[in-house]
Amino acid sequence: MITPEELFLQRRKFMKLGIGASVAPFLIDSLMAQTSFGAPLDYLPQSSSLKPTKEEHATSYNNFYEFGFGKNDPKANSKHFAPSSWKIQITGEVQNPMQIELEDLLKKVKLVERIYRLRCVEAWSMVIPWIGFELRELLSLVKPTAKAKYVKFTTLFDPSLFPAQKALFSSIDFPYVEGLRLDEANHPLSILAVGMYGKTLLPQNGAPIRLVVPWKYGFKYIKSIAKIELVSERPISTWEKQNPREYGFYANVNPDVPHPRWSQASERVIGERGRQRTLYLNGYDKEVGYLYDGLNPKKLY
Ligand code: MTE
Repeated sequence: MITPEELFLQRRKFMKLGIGASVAPFLIDSLMAQTSFGAPLDYLPQSSSLKPTKEEHATSYNNFYEFGFGKNDPKANSKHFAPSSWKIQITGEVQNPMQIELEDLLKKVKLVERIYRLRCVEAWSMVIPWIGFELRELLSLVKPTAKAKYVKFTTLFDPSLFPAQKALFSSIDFPYVEGLRLDEANHPLSILAVGMYGKTLLPQNGAPIRLVVPWKYGFKYIKSIAKIELVSERPISTWEKQNPREYGFYANVNPDVPHPRWSQASERVIGERGRQRTLYLNGYDKEVGYLYDGLNPKKLY
C-alpha cells in the first residue's frame, strides 16, 4: 500500500522531473493547481496487491512502431522527440467540440494514480503505476450527442517527430488508430495517462498522452493521441485492419481464446522468472465483465 507520505514524495518527484522536459510544464501546472484545490490522487483498492514492474523495463521494452519495430527501437529512436506544445482535437458527434492545448485540458480534469496490470497480445505482461485522468471526464466536457456510439482515437501524424511515418512502405498504416465502444470509454477504469512511475510520460511510452484500458490487450493503448472523435459507426483499428483474423476490435484479454498462432492461457512476466496464468479480462472481470454480457468472445475477440 502506498502511504500518503510516499504519494507526496512521488508527487514532488513528478513535479521536479517534469522541469526541463519539453512537453512537461503543463503537467507541473496541473499538479500544482490540484494541490492548491486539495483534490486527492486516488487508488483502486485492489491495486495495492500488485507489484509494479521495474521502471527500467517499462521504459525500455516497448511497442511503438512509429519509432521502429524492435522492442528497443522506441527508446533508442525517440531521443529527439520534443514537441513544443501538444493540441488535442475532440470532435465528431459532440455538442461541444474542442481543440485544446493539453496544458489547458489538464486544468479541467482530476489526476489520479492507477496501478494496473498490462497484458500484451504477444503474451507478456507488466504492472504499471499510471498517472492520468478518467476518459469519462473528457467525454463529459464535450457532451456526446445521441448519435455517438464509439470513440475513435488517432495518433499524431508528423514524420518529423516519428521517423517510421516517413517510410513509403510500412507493414502498418499510419497514423495509428484505435477505438472503444462509448460505454467502455465511459467506464471509470478507462484512463488517459500523462505519466507513469510518478513522472511525466517518456516519448517511448506515448508522451504526452495515451490511452490505458487495463482489461484489453496492450495494442488498444494508443499512444501520442492528437485526435479523439465521437462516431456512430464502429471504427476499424490499426491491427484489425492489418490482420482481422488475428486482431479484433474488442481485444479483451481472454485466456480461453487463443491467438491463431499462440496460446493466451499464460504470460511471461517482464522482469520476473517464469510465467503466470492469464486472468479473464486481465483480472478486471468484477469491474467490467457486465459490459460483455451476451457477447461471444470467440466471434468478437
Ligand atoms: N500506439 C501507437 N501509436 N503505435 C504503436 O505502435 N503499440 C501498441 C500500444 N500503443 C503502439 C501504440 C502496443 S502493440 C502495445 S503492447 C502498447 O502500446 C505498448 O505500450 P508500452 O510500450 O508503453 O508498454
